[in-house]
Amino acid sequence: MTPFHLHNKTILVTGASSGIGKQIAISICEMGGNVVITGRDEERLGETFAALKKNDGNLTITADLLDKDNLSDLVTKLPLLDGIVHCAGIVKPYPVKFLSEEKIFETFQTNYNIHVLLMAQITRQKKLNRNASIVFLSSISAAHPHKGGALYSGSKAAIESFSKVIALEFYSQGIRSNCISPAMVKTPMYEYAEKGASKETLDEHVNKYPLGVGTTSDISNTAVFLLSDASKWITGISITLDGGFLLGGI
Ligand SMILES: NC(=O)c1ccc[n+]([C@@H]2O[C@H](COP(=O)([O-])OP(=O)(O)OC[C@H]3O[C@@H](n4cnc5c(N)ncnc54)[C@H](OP(=O)(O)O)[C@@H]3O)[C@@H](O)[C@H]2O)c1
Repeated sequence: MTPFHLHNKTILVTGASSGIGKQIAISICEMGGNVVITGRDEERLGETFAALKKNDGNLTITADLLDKDNLSDLVTKLPLLDGIVHCAGIVKPYPVKFLSEEKIFETFQTNYNIHVLLMAQITRQKKLNRNASIVFLSSISAAHPHKGGALYSGSKAAIESFSKVIALEFYSQGIRSNCISPAMVKTPMYEYAEKGASKETLDEHVNKYPLGVGTTSDISNTAVFLLSDASKWITGISITLDGGFLLGGI
């Protein structure tokens, strides 16, 4: 059988109520896996659930991961997992002169702290099967920051570093940890960024992608690969998905 399938695997997907996380959950089920999907918005999470290929083991758990009780309840309810895709995230661009302690806290709480706390509780409660695969959603901005991106770029650089620590601390159980670092992908987060930029600025940016801006399936196909046994020799890395943007030739 092909090693790219996800049969007999149960995967937790955070941020599954929107954008990239939603498509990753759908793709996992299409490849034969079961998912536990979580997000804050119950209605949109329900829409994701309705879009999943009907596998018996799918579960939906609404949770605001900034709420300690919600996070603990989620972990308690989890079945044994063969993988996790950490998609929950926010983007709040600010020029450096407008940064404050509250703003730093806000971005790092969602883009870094909740993922670290989730991994701490999941591993403490022994919810990961041997050979599980962990995937974090980083961004090209971790290594290629942009103006206004102090918090977002910093939080993604931090999560890439954390992913490597997971790879080192859990390899003896065959557990792998990797990041996907996309450039711009068409999601509600992209639409939020669209509102904050002029049409000219955005057009100028989009025109620098030889293969165009990304779609959510471009990301979910790589997530499926990293969750599958086909990537069993890959750990501690970040895969850049950018449609050629970083070539910089355009
Ligand atoms: N779109 C891009 O261009 C792009 C590029 C590079 C990297 N990424 C990364 O990819 C990931 C997904 O991005 P996206 O574009 O799919 O964003 P999105 O459509 O805005 O979705 C963000 C998801 O995060 C969830 N979330 C946020 N705060 C949460 C919290 N406190 N507790 C639980 N869930 C929370 C949201 O839940 P609710 O909607 O239910 O509130 C939503 O499901 C993010 O980490 C992002 O940084 C995106």
